[in-house]
Amino acid sequence: MLYKANQGDQKKVEALDPSLDIFAAIKKLKKEKNAVILAHYYQEGDIQDVADFIGDSLGLSQEAAKTKSEIIVFAGVHFMAETAKILNPNKKVLLPDLNAGCSLADSCPPDKFLAFKKKYPDHIVITYINCSAEIKALSDIICTSSNAEKIVRSLPENQKIIFAPDKNLGRYISKQTGREMVLWDGSCMVHEIFSLEKITKLKAKHPEAKFIAHPECEEAVLQLADYIGSTTGLLNFTKKDSAQTFIVATETGILHQMEKESPQKTFIPAPPNNNCACNDCPHMKLNTLEKLYICLRDESPEITMSVDLIERSVKPIQRMLELSAQFGL
Ligand code: 13P
Ligand code: SF4
Repeated sequence: MLYKANQGDQKKVEALDPSLDIFAAIKKLKKEKNAVILAHYYQEGDIQDVADFIGDSLGLSQEAAKTKSEIIVFAGVHFMAETAKILNPNKKVLLPDLNAGCSLADSCPPDKFLAFKKKYPDHIVITYINCSAEIKALSDIICTSSNAEKIVRSLPENQKIIFAPDKNLGRYISKQTGREMVLWDGSCMVHEIFSLEKITKLKAKHPEAKFIAHPECEEAVLQLADYIGSTTGLLNFTKKDSAQTFIVATETGILHQMEKESPQKTFIPAPPNNNCACNDCPHMKLNTLEKLYICLRDESPEITMSVDLIERSVKPIQRMLELSAQFGL
């Protein structure tokens, strides 16, 4: 690992009374404290079921930008909760486990990125939201996998672009738009370990299935895909498409919503390059329902940031939200 954003210290998790109805207790606390729970699709099923809003990175940042609640419990990873804090400097933003980081964000250390950026002074910097606040502060526009293509297309033809930190998403967007971009060499540990060989075998075993993939996957995997999209894009595709079976190449948490939305359809997680049958993000899965309950009860761990860093990182996020609204996203 190259770099780890300063996330603070995670306290030890206490043992809870086994007779406690955690779902009911969370519901009660939410009401008492005027709190909202925002959860990413990669969270465990129980967390998704207790959340007020479930979404992909774009949906979650849009929701964070408009919430009226005093407390935001962010069931996701650190960069997501940090983004919610940047958009709500006067609100309390909680993350159930402060160690929930991201290999992609870690692959882009600010000092190295600054030196990289200096080599291309006439380039605009478009950065995937999966990065630290320091990297956001060095960027012109933030994007997510839902809006990256539209954001790149919205720039003048002759505008030179640096795209960071995900090289797989960058390469995919470059291919879609025909725009050459300078790519930072970062990637996501979860989306990079899908096994081409096992996926090919699985496709042969289920010829009726559609293969769908997240654009953070490697190019060779994307080439096999019938549909490529963000987690929300993948979910919507499975709802609308007539296929009854889908092989899904992204983190397995999304299968919970796919199965809930289309109970009559079959969803098979694409296998990774190890002995596991499915692919969990170890960072996302650090959050548990118990930790979420304790975090809401104690209002800790909390995301804290300097005013200076908030002021330096908010503009490119707002630019993304403005552009997304213009695109009708
Ligand atoms: P989206 O939420 O944009 O689909 O990105 C997936 C991801 O890897 C989040 O960490
Ligand atoms: Fe980061 Fe990948 Fe996990 Fe998303 S799935 S939080 S990009 S490591």
